[in-house]
Amino acid sequence: MAKAGVAIGLDISTGSIKVAEVNVGRREPILSNLAIIMLPDGVVREGEVDDAATLASYLKELWKQNRISRRKVILGVSNQKVIVRPMDLPYMPEDELASAVKYQVQEFIPIPIDDAIVDYEVVDEYMTGEEERMQTVLLAAAHREMIQSFLDAVLQAGLSPVAIELKAFAMVRSLVKKEYQFLEEEGGEAPGSVCLINIGAGICNICVVKEGTPRFVRMLMRGGDFFTKLLCDHLNLSPVEAEEIKRGRSTDNDANALLQREIQAFVGEIRRSLEYYISQTQERDLNKVILSGSGSKMINLPLELNRGLRLPIEIGHPLQNVQLGKLPYTPEELAELEASIAVSVGLALRDTED
Ligand SMILES: Nc1ncnc2c1ncn2[C@@H]1O[C@H](COP(=O)(O)OP(=O)(O)OP(=O)(O)O)[C@@H](O)[C@H]1O
Ligand SMILES: [Mg+2]
Repeated sequence: MAKAGVAIGLDISTGSIKVAEVNVGRREPILSNLAIIMLPDGVVREGEVDDAATLASYLKELWKQNRISRRKVILGVSNQKVIVRPMDLPYMPEDELASAVKYQVQEFIPIPIDDAIVDYEVVDEYMTGEEERMQTVLLAAAHREMIQSFLDAVLQAGLSPVAIELKAFAMVRSLVKKEYQFLEEEGGEAPGSVCLINIGAGICNICVVKEGTPRFVRMLMRGGDFFTKLLCDHLNLSPVEAEEIKRGRSTDNDANALLQREIQAFVGEIRRSLEYYISQTQERDLNKVILSGSGSKMINLPLELNRGLRLPIEIGHPLQNVQLGKLPYTPEELAELEASIAVSVGLALRDTED
């Protein structure tokens, strides 16, 4: 059963920390608070904590400024110290599965098992040609030390983590419309597979979702800040000038040509990830991309993605599955924020699942 009460999703990202507070357990979850604080460089790098003490002080400040009273948080992670792999096993009841996964997991992950925290979810069931019933499990394994550095910062800020989840999994709850998430269970027709892409400041999270379930996850260590730095380094622009060009508010032939070339290379990287997934699964009905993350607002990025992936691009609406409570933002401000909150809102919606 879904738990009643309030859940807080905590997205510690490269450029900012985002917190979403959702009143769950009602028919329709209500977003009761949404708060953001910018982070200086060097606190979070490539999705990992670089400076736990400074991070803790920003977390404290964020809680204070926004008068958040609750301290239990659901924390998101995404970095190169997490590995997500599919694993095929003969079908077995749930209670036997845990020990089977534990027994075999080392073959699938490059982290010594004693240094890893492992989680898994059954994502598919099928029959082999020999009529053997099989299941596919998506394994997520994280380096214990990396998780510990997040826990250190969060505990130091007086917060209490109740769950840790991959950001790529969390965004499914906010970016995939709720009606679609449960269609298969209810015998309805699900809308094929979709590819969620979140482009932040430092990381690009990719997640292919089939019938409401994540099937494939890739984290690329590249986001909007890469392009800002590129413009600054190659064309001697200031960070402010580079941001204006990325936003399409000012143009410069050299800068725009450089940006386009590098966006195409980045799209190529995303395409290769998807091609890998398709080659592994023979997936045929990947039918659209749902885009989020403020880095995805870069000029021409949606168009280049559309060309490079040959898929329709839809701009994600992470507020679609919640009702809005009393929030301290104008509708315009909220529309501006929406791109960057898919992960925090999705984390908070975790408790709405059975
Ligand atoms: N309107 C815009 N046009 C282009 N780029 C933008 C726009 N607004 C923000 N950005 C870029 O988006 C990035 C920040 O996005 P976001 O807030 O999603 O990242 P983050 O969550 O802090 O980082 P990450 O998830 O990668 O750890 C920055 O690189 C910024 O330059
Ligand atoms: Mg982010």
